[in-house]
Amino acid sequence: MNYQSVLDEIIHELAEFEDKGEVASYIPELAKVSPEKFGVYITGVEGQECYTGDYQERFSIQSISKVFALALAFKNMGESLWSRVGVEPSGDPFNSLVQLEHEKGIPRNPLINAGALVVCDVLISIFKNPKDELSAFVENLMGGPVNFNLKVFLSEKKHAYVNAALINLMKAFGNIKNDVEEVLDFYFYQCSMEMSCQELSKAFLLFANKGKIPLTNEQMIKEINSRRINAIMQTCGFYDEAGEFAYKVGLPGKSGVGGGIIAVNPGIYSVAVWSPKLNANGNSAKGMKFLEMLSAKTGSSIF
Ligand code: DON
Repeated sequence: MNYQSVLDEIIHELAEFEDKGEVASYIPELAKVSPEKFGVYITGVEGQECYTGDYQERFSIQSISKVFALALAFKNMGESLWSRVGVEPSGDPFNSLVQLEHEKGIPRNPLINAGALVVCDVLISIFKNPKDELSAFVENLMGGPVNFNLKVFLSEKKHAYVNAALINLMKAFGNIKNDVEEVLDFYFYQCSMEMSCQELSKAFLLFANKGKIPLTNEQMIKEINSRRINAIMQTCGFYDEAGEFAYKVGLPGKSGVGGGIIAVNPGIYSVAVWSPKLNANGNSAKGMKFLEMLSAKTGSSIF
């Protein structure tokens, strides 16, 4: 299939798209990003590439980083990870507190904030220097150095009220083993990672390629773990919009409040799209529309 001509066709049609989304402002530093940015990068498992727009510009990947942290924790903990965090969709917003009390501090899944905080706690228990381990893991996947934006990190840290509530509740239930400030610090650090669509698409290719980096053939995670993480992305990657994403796009994926979305078509490609204006569920409005069109035009849905 000629993906570049499909891409060009979608860009032409998207000119009509009325974007009613808004740039995230609860982390003040994110509100400074130009709302009109738009980039796409598609990488095929056999090396094909196509792209458009601001695909080389780095942006704050925010919650997309939760997938990297999960992959690293799962690689090291195996199935025992699931005694600390579930694999069920939450049907609630990414930072919701409501289920946590009923479910005694065990988050529904690793892609909501509560679950990602538990994953950070696990990584702090495993590694002496979890920040370096996570960076090295991501850099190996993307094939170059990753950037951490200190301003975004500090901005989120200063407005951390909901994440602080989530972690303190879990600490009270005994599901956070390390110091809450240390875990929050590591979580904000991972969220402040900056990558371009090009880098993200390359870094996620292992999930389209049975856990292997296609270029080097290095098995980064077990094939079964790659399949399981895809299942979690499919059912939990878009919070209370996960059903809609499965219905309209039909690919495992993950969004971030920086406006990025990554999706993978197992065995075929990974695609990253960036458009900072978010819909009411905190997912990129134009990014969602783009992926819906890409999936429809290429018959990519896994269903
Ligand atoms: O914890 C937060 O609120 C952010 N650092 C990440 C949220 C996020 O990206 C949600 N995804 N759409």
